Amino acid sequence: MFQDFIDIFMCPNTKEKLSLISRNELLEASKDIGVKLPEGDQFLINESKSFLYQIAPFGFPILLPEEGIPLKIDPKAISSASSSSQKISFATLKKHKDNLETVYRKDDYVNKPTGRKPWRAAYESSEVHTPAAENLIPGSVLDAGCGIGFFRRFTRGRFHLMLDLSQYNLSYNFAPNKVIGRTECIPIQDGSFENVVSLRSLQHCQDPKTSISELARCVKPGGRFLVAVWREDWPSCLKGSPWAFTNFTYFIKKAFLLAKNNPSLFVDRALFKLKLKKTKKLEVAVFWDKDTQKVWDRRFNRDAFQKMLEDVGLKILKRGYCGIETPGSKVPKFLLKRFFDAEKYGLYCYFVCDKPL
Ligand SMILES: C[S@@+](CC[C@H](N)C(=O)[O-])C[C@H]1O[C@@H](n2cnc3c(N)ncnc32)[C@H](O)[C@@H]1O
Repeated sequence: MFQDFIDIFMCPNTKEKLSLISRNELLEASKDIGVKLPEGDQFLINESKSFLYQIAPFGFPILLPEEGIPLKIDPKAISSASSSSQKISFATLKKHKDNLETVYRKDDYVNKPTGRKPWRAAYESSEVHTPAAENLIPGSVLDAGCGIGFFRRFTRGRFHLMLDLSQYNLSYNFAPNKVIGRTECIPIQDGSFENVVSLRSLQHCQDPKTSISELARCVKPGGRFLVAVWREDWPSCLKGSPWAFTNFTYFIKKAFLLAKNNPSLFVDRALFKLKLKKTKKLEVAVFWDKDTQKVWDRRFNRDAFQKMLEDVGLKILKRGYCGIETPGSKVPKFLLKRFFDAEKYGLYCYFVCDKPL
């Protein structure tokens, strides 16, 4: 349980240490704390007693900056907290989280991750996770943007902390070590982990640059950072390969199912994709804010992404492509091996990086 490693957490707003406080203690400390306490017997509070955080019903802390409850105990601390918080407003962050949760729920993500049956999703994720798993160094693992936690099967026997923005995804499995947090503002002390992995997640965040520097901050000097993100030139890289056809049939099938099961989401996505095509943006609309029309999904140019990693002082040890999108028709395994070359057709680009001592 998180109480055992509470020392590695920090307040996402003020970057101070957090400690547990009971409802009664809190009420005793100040009769008029100026806020209506939400449900729960225990909370996390920062050192200057300016922010309070809830613990989710499943027993993991909710350490999102926008979910911090400002207390009136120390007004000075509150003003410094808001001045040190992010450039993105809390309202926008809240909206992003709500949109993302809505899409996951509508898509029934925990039962059909990435739109596939669980066994297919597990197979596909292993295609992305294996290059990362092979490059882990001994020690703890922070899995940022862990989703429903497929990577956990590669980290048996290690301290593995799962961090995700989505409470819905995080609630899916019974892993003991979880925290709700966002990669732009990671509620973890500097250099707490030997390995930090972020697989198939950074394309969905609001601010990849900040997220990368936050993730790098959590790696111990001499530790490892492993990341996989959508590549910019997919699916155009499939041209001339057997995968172009199988993927095409797969996407038609998927679109048909979406139109049948969720017509309004289908129309929204179709309209948005058309709009993007017109503006020639290299972005894929999966999660977006309907009001501001802001897209949260993006594909990365591999060199530009590498530069972002190097800019925060990471040393690139290896890079490559990985991850097959499962073909629409069932293709025998030996054919998969024969015709599939992850380096050519993989949907993700991955990087293995070291944080110098
Ligand atoms: C496609 S899933 C990938 C999950 C897992 N890493 C895997 O490879 O199976 C992307 C996950 O990133 C999470 N995510 C998106 N933006 C995030 C952010 N800013 N901070 C933390 N998690 C985020 C989503 O909630 C989602 O669970």
